Amino acid sequence: MTTQLALLSDVHANLHALDAVLADIAARPGLAGTYHLGDLVGYHAFPNEVTARLRSAGIAGVAGNYDSTVAMHYKHCGCRSENPRQEELAHQSFAWTLDAVTAETRATLAALPFRLDVRPLGGHVAGPTVILLHATPTSNLVYVTEDRSDEFLRKMAQQAGASAGDVIAFGHTHKPWHRLVDDVLFVNTGSVGRPKDGDPRAGWTLLTLGDGAPRAEQVRVDYDIDAACAAVAAAGLPEEFAQSLRTGRA
Ligand SMILES: [Fe+2]
Repeated sequence: MTTQLALLSDVHANLHALDAVLADIAARPGLAGTYHLGDLVGYHAFPNEVTARLRSAGIAGVAGNYDSTVAMHYKHCGCRSENPRQEELAHQSFAWTLDAVTAETRATLAALPFRLDVRPLGGHVAGPTVILLHATPTSNLVYVTEDRSDEFLRKMAQQAGASAGDVIAFGHTHKPWHRLVDDVLFVNTGSVGRPKDGDPRAGWTLLTLGDGAPRAEQVRVDYDIDAACAAVAAAGLPEEFAQSLRTGRA
């Protein structure tokens, strides 16, 4: 028996991208569930709408760094900047988002768990556990990029208590990849609303479990990027965020 899950991450207040991904997922019958891996808000124009949409769709998930820093009214989003302009943009995005979120959104973000374990084949059998995180088992700030060593990933598995056949899924870098190490599948699910791998389409991950090793497939979905960019401009957010949507790069 096999079962499939949809995993989506890093929506970042891009409602146009989220709606396209949810429609794509809804068009695939037989999926056992859909989960998000955090960073619902930040950078784009619809933090309240995205948070409400996932909630009304019954999609559970974990807290990204953006969600937890907004919820806690922290001094910074916890995002890494590579130059002074990026740092300036990070501050602008964080200030805009702090101002835009309602008390209800903040409460929803504050209630997101740090980690979520799912047993798609049932907790009554020794089936695989899918461990959902935003980044690593100890912090939602660390970037788990594709060039991380097997040793790094083994340590993640150990910290998470993962066994052979399990899956550790995370986002945060906005660049999808997956790799099997000691029969644990590590999956970076990419980003719905702010991809940085050069492909501007919205991304989500289809996970298949049962009958052999778990498998991950990154799915890309076209959406109305012009409308998302117009919303960025109308919100008074920096033009660079719209440019990033068009190029699929940071
Ligand atoms: Fe993110």
